[in-house]
Amino acid sequence: MRHALALARRGLGNVWPNPAVGCVLVRCGAVVGRGWTQPGGRPHAEAMALAQAGEAARGATAYVTLEPCAHHGKTPPCAEALVRAGVARVVTALTDPDPRVAGRGHAILRPAGIEVAEGICEAEAREVQRGFLSRIQQGRPTLTLKLAASFDGRIATGSGESQWITGAPARRHVQALRLCHDAVMVGGETARADRPGLNLRGLGPVRQPVRIVVSTRPLPDLPAEGTGHGPLWQVAGRPEDFMVELGARGLTRVLCEGGGVLAASLLRAGLVDQLIGYSAGLVLGGDGRAGIGALGLARLADAPRFRLVETRRIGPDVMHRWLRD
Ligand SMILES: NC(=O)c1ccc[n+]([C@@H]2O[C@H](COP(=O)([O-])OP(=O)(O)OC[C@H]3O[C@@H](n4cnc5c(N)ncnc54)[C@H](OP(=O)(O)O)[C@@H]3O)[C@@H](O)[C@H]2O)c1
Repeated sequence: MRHALALARRGLGNVWPNPAVGCVLVRCGAVVGRGWTQPGGRPHAEAMALAQAGEAARGATAYVTLEPCAHHGKTPPCAEALVRAGVARVVTALTDPDPRVAGRGHAILRPAGIEVAEGICEAEAREVQRGFLSRIQQGRPTLTLKLAASFDGRIATGSGESQWITGAPARRHVQALRLCHDAVMVGGETARADRPGLNLRGLGPVRQPVRIVVSTRPLPDLPAEGTGHGPLWQVAGRPEDFMVELGARGLTRVLCEGGGVLAASLLRAGLVDQLIGYSAGLVLGGDGRAGIGALGLARLADAPRFRLVETRRIGPDVMHRWLRD
């Protein structure tokens, strides 16, 4: 299942509105097929693994990170494909909360004589599926807030000089972060001041993330969709509302890259699920620009709290990742 989860991660940022799923087929102790959700969401992981295994799928065990689908969408149901292929046993990590599936996939397998084991590596699978689960269960994509800052949390000097606070390795890491998100979001002021590319560079043919600018005012000239840039969507209003709208449009994982006013309003609304910080070994002082705008907190108890899940040295900087409690 851990191998299947590693395959599933390949699809993150690439398969919305579908979940990123991995599948490994094992017969007599040997892997006979491997699959993961393909760009745009199909073929599904099971279809790819079954095609690779061919006749070797007969009598095999399928490890699938999410319950196989049961509905006739643009592709036939994967649960039926597993039955037809003669798989003997199916091991899944999570029940699919999508109301079109919700246990129906498992219910197709059992009466066909297939042994089913559920809930294997469930916690890891929940982490991989965080975006999809958020969209189905909360109606909005999961939101990561990224901040690259000095030791004291500043993103520019008082005069506005900000390039570069973190080193080239951390900036490459941000590219990897964009790769596993469906969309990259910035505030209107950042779009106007920096005209950021918000795209993936030097990574070959990849699905570019959707560019989201939160603004009520006209946008500056930003590169058109295609030619190395994803679609450009302008949203505005209350964060609670536009996040639901982004979920309805199919996004599962959104990365906010600032600025401080937008970041603060997302934090105030309790919409930030993950924080990723890059801290550099320089100090900009109280006259430097704060990475996050005012939150208006009177009591410590009201501060949004996060739990540390990862730290890593990246070149001369430190990356730290936190999840909402
Ligand atoms: N070094 C870094 O890592 C980094 C990263 C990002 C930004 N920056 C810098 O930060 C500066 C801009 O940041 P900022 O904090 O001033 O502005 P910002 O957060 O980028 O943008 C704020 C603007 O977003 C729009 N907005 C619309 N609806 C909103 C909502 N519900 N909640 C919040 N905002 C909403 C508003 O613009 P409208 O009036 O258009 O509606 C608002 O003025 C720039 O100088 C940029 O270079 C630095």
